[in-house]
Amino acid sequence: MSTLDKLFEAARAIQANAYVPYSRFKVGAAILTSDGRVFVGCNVENAAYPVGSCAEAGAISAMIAGGADRIAAIVVMGDGEHLVTPCGGCRQRIREFAFPDTPIHVAGPEGIRKSFTLGELLPYSFGPDNLSL
Ligand code: THU
Repeated sequence: MSTLDKLFEAARAIQANAYVPYSRFKVGAAILTSDGRVFVGCNVENAAYPVGSCAEAGAISAMIAGGADRIAAIVVMGDGEHLVTPCGGCRQRIREFAFPDTPIHVAGPEGIRKSFTLGELLPYSFGPDNLSL
């Protein structure tokens, strides 16, 4: 099984655990780190709607808690006919730990639907380097 296949399977498996009583829209995310590990997350909603968190945010938290901080690739997966591209906030969250050429694969249950680079989804981004005076 290829690394991308493993990442896809990890995203699909964790998607099932999403807590989505409000949107009913389950999302799973799997991050491959530069040291070859995989961290996963799912969306977790809340009765106070804005406090819910995205799958990507959960995967990033797991990655940091696991002691890694370089995203080599990420798979985001959701159902429905449309691409589940990361929301604006998650593009910025990914940006903190990735490079413009880092692949972001958007998947549906049947497989990878479209692959982007972070630079395509978040051009001219503001990142850690922009803070240097
Ligand atoms: N969602 C994610 O988890 N990731 C995305 O990139 C897009 C949206 C979640 C948030 C919310 O729980 C549900 O999908 C519907 O917006």
